[in-house]
Amino acid sequence: MSETSVADRLYGAGAPALELDGVTRHFGALAALSGVTMRISAGERRAILGSNGAGKTTLFNAVTGEFPLTAGRIRFFGEDISELPTQERIRRGLRRTYQISQLFGRLTVLDSVFLACRGVSGRRFSLRRPDARDVSMMQARSIITAVHLDDESDRLVSTLSHGQQRQLEIALALAGAPRFILFDEPAAGLSPSERRDLVAILSALPKHIGYIIIEHDLDVALRVADYVSIMHNGRLFKEGTPEQIENDPEVQDIYLGHKHH
Ligand SMILES: Nc1ncnc2c1ncn2[C@@H]1O[C@H](COP(=O)(O)OP(=O)(O)O)[C@@H](O)[C@H]1O
Ligand SMILES: [Mg+2]
Repeated sequence: MSETSVADRLYGAGAPALELDGVTRHFGALAALSGVTMRISAGERRAILGSNGAGKTTLFNAVTGEFPLTAGRIRFFGEDISELPTQERIRRGLRRTYQISQLFGRLTVLDSVFLACRGVSGRRFSLRRPDARDVSMMQARSIITAVHLDDESDRLVSTLSHGQQRQLEIALALAGAPRFILFDEPAAGLSPSERRDLVAILSALPKHIGYIIIEHDLDVALRVADYVSIMHNGRLFKEGTPEQIENDPEVQDIYLGHKHH
């Protein structure tokens, strides 16, 4: 008999990474999300564009469980996770980064990533000082390489540049064995060269790790995504391949119009 995971046996192999069905979230009278339905295949990389207040971060909070849904369902690799607490979603391989940094300034880069790796490995209560061959330590070093922070391993987080801190946030999301990552505006405030670095880091992630990236810069979004969704007023407004989106007259009006003024 072939080896299949419990999820595969229950829900069938090849289930999409993420399925949103009519996802709705109200804040009082405000419909921050209204009936958002989308399906993201395993390993797919999706960009979400949209003006401030469109509901992008609320969508992330709904997927992670930080905000309960007003209506709708969410499935993660075939399993309905709509009612699961955030920690259980993390255990199933869901990760996110935040629009506002959540880093600890007084740790070094290596300690930060090491603690994240050890935290998700379930050995967080060990007081032993790790040696270089510790599994979490080896994972931490390889993640630090993946986010181009090798030369900064021993620096205090508070002394990193803004761009390096954003790279470290990606490193923390890679701790454990993520299957899907939600990146909330990782390019915000980055210089052109830091943006190129970010594109290289995201492009080189292992192919089985899918993600959604919220991104304002159309150039970055089109380069790191297989498919693009545009949100407006809590709804999906348009979806397409990077080519379709780039050549869409309405999108050109909204995005490229602003850019060349
Ligand atoms: N915790 C909250 N309480 C009340 N309103 C919120 C909350 N979070 C977001 N909103 C509102 O929901 C709408 C969508 O916000 P958000 O998802 O942060 O937009 P985006 O990330 O696309 O800029 C906005 O009108 C915002 O003010
Ligand atoms: Mg936001």
